[in-house]
Order: sequence, then structure tokens, then C-alpha cells
Amino acid sequence: MDLTDHSGLQQLLEDMIRDTAGEAEKGEVASYIPELARQEKHMLGISVCLVDGTLLSAGDANHSFTLQSISKIFSLMVALCEHGPDYVFQRVGKEPTGDPFNSIIKLETIKPHKPLNPMINAGAIAVAGMIPGASVEERLDKILQLLRKMSGNPDLRVNEKVYQSEKQTADRNRALAYFLKDSGILQGDVEETLDLYFRHCSIDMTTVEVARLAAVLAADGYDARSREQLFPREVARICKTFMITCGMYNASGEFAIDVGIPAKSGVAGGIMAAVPQRMGIGVFGPALDDKGNSVAGVKVLEKLSDRLDLSVF
Ligand code: DON
Repeated sequence: MDLTDHSGLQQLLEDMIRDTAGEAEKGEVASYIPELARQEKHMLGISVCLVDGTLLSAGDANHSFTLQSISKIFSLMVALCEHGPDYVFQRVGKEPTGDPFNSIIKLETIKPHKPLNPMINAGAIAVAGMIPGASVEERLDKILQLLRKMSGNPDLRVNEKVYQSEKQTADRNRALAYFLKDSGILQGDVEETLDLYFRHCSIDMTTVEVARLAAVLAADGYDARSREQLFPREVARICKTFMITCGMYNASGEFAIDVGIPAKSGVAGGIMAAVPQRMGIGVFGPALDDKGNSVAGVKVLEKLSDRLDLSVF
């Protein structure tokens, strides 16, 4: 299909949402963060933002959900822009793990004890530790400002309920963070860095905004709406590479074969996908598979990739 055929594309999105919504039956909403367990399992929404800024949506595209692990891309971006890749990659690796996103095992067995990549929890907590500022608010603001610029929504906020819920049930993340402190990867106040991590995971968004973020990534940092280069091309290249190799956790290989688009998922049910030089995609469907990825969201992306020939491979 020609991407300039906007009404054809709109129809395709609507058909896909209608035909895929039933997939939610195969998954469950995340329950380890109590506030996420309250989400309505059957919701499904998609937005596509072409690199020229054209936006199309179908289904529950105006429903807000928290970014969760999708936010790991943007904390990484801030760290890369603040310090450059050499500094960042002395403290976090570039390799996929094959383990669940909250796994602790390789932190101790691999030497030096740095997290294998910035998309697992240990790596993202290490990255949060690199974001400078006089207070947690100032550090969070660096991420929020980037997200507000990229999405065009100046009102993006942290969802306080989800943030508190995550903070109260984060023993595993605390264990990871204190181990990182003991290994010298994290410096400074561990609780403050954890607080920053919980807050950036709890930023609320819709698929419309996620698609806009992804479109800027797809265009290597260029924002067609403001006509500005928002961050260096090199930063976009690094992020998209992590999205392909580690963005869907220990299902990244399968997703690369079945869908073939750089993507990042979150446990609230969101997926952000960036098709280089073509489009950004935001999907939301809160029922997850056993690896923590949206069941219906992955299916929609598989169908869209097939219909529009979006695989980068
Ligand atoms: O650290 C956590 O458990 C969550 N804030 C983020 C995890 C997440 O989204 C993993 N995703 N699939």
C-alpha cells in the first residue's frame, strides 16, 4: 500500500484493530504493580505517525497508559546527550541477555559487574544514575522536557498513583540498585536514583504521543512538525539498535523475525516502534504474554509489518 493513501491506511488500521482485539484473551494484565492490575484487559489502540507528521489512529488511541519500560529509551537518550557514548558504555553494556527484564543473575556472574544493556531493569537503573541534576525533580525534568518536545504535548506528567504503587512494590529493583552501588556502577543516593527510575516509568501517554516520539526516532532525530533536529543522529542510531536487539526483552529475536521493526515494549501494555525513514507507531493493549509484551500489540504490529512490508531486514 502507498503511504500517501491516507484513507486506505486508516481503513487498514481500523480493520486490524477489529480483527485483533480478541488476542487479549491469550494474555493477562501485569499484576506485580497493583495499580497496573486495574487496567481493562481488552483495550486495543494504535497510532501511526508518518515521518512527514501525518497522524492516523484507530481503537483506544486516546486512552492514557504509563510508559514503563518504553521510557528506558528516553532516559538513555538524555544520558547519551549529557555524557556521550564512551561514558555511558563504561557503565552499561551493549549486549542482549536472553533473561527476563528484571533478572538479577548475570549481574554477579559477569565481570565487570555492569548490566548487560540499558533495556533491562538493572541497565536502566544504571542509566538513571547518570542523569545529572540537583534534585530528582530536576533530573526527571530533563526526561520530561525531551518527551514534551518530541511528542508536542507540553502537559505530559507522571501518573502519581502508578508511581506510588511501583515504589511500594519494588523490592527486586531495590536489590538490583544496591548491588549496582556495591559494584561502583551507581554512585550517589540509591533511593533518589530509584525514585527517578520509578517516576520516568510512570509517565502517562497515549498511543498518539508514542507514535510521535517514534516518528522522530524513525527520522533520526528530525521532527517534521517543528522542523528541528531534536537530538544527534548518532543517538537515534544507538537507540534503534537497542530496540532491535533488546527492546522486546527475551522475545527480541522472535519479534525481529516476525515483525522486523525496532521496537520497545512496557508492562503497562504499550509498544513504541520506529520504522526507519517511514513512520513511528504507538500501540496499546494491556494484556501481556509471559515475557511481558502486549499480546494483541505484537499481533497488530506483525500484521501491519506484513501488509506494509515494514521489516528492516
Ligand atoms: O521496573 C519495573 O518493573 C517497571 N517499572 C518497568 C518494567 C517494564 O516495563 C518491563 N517491561 N516489559
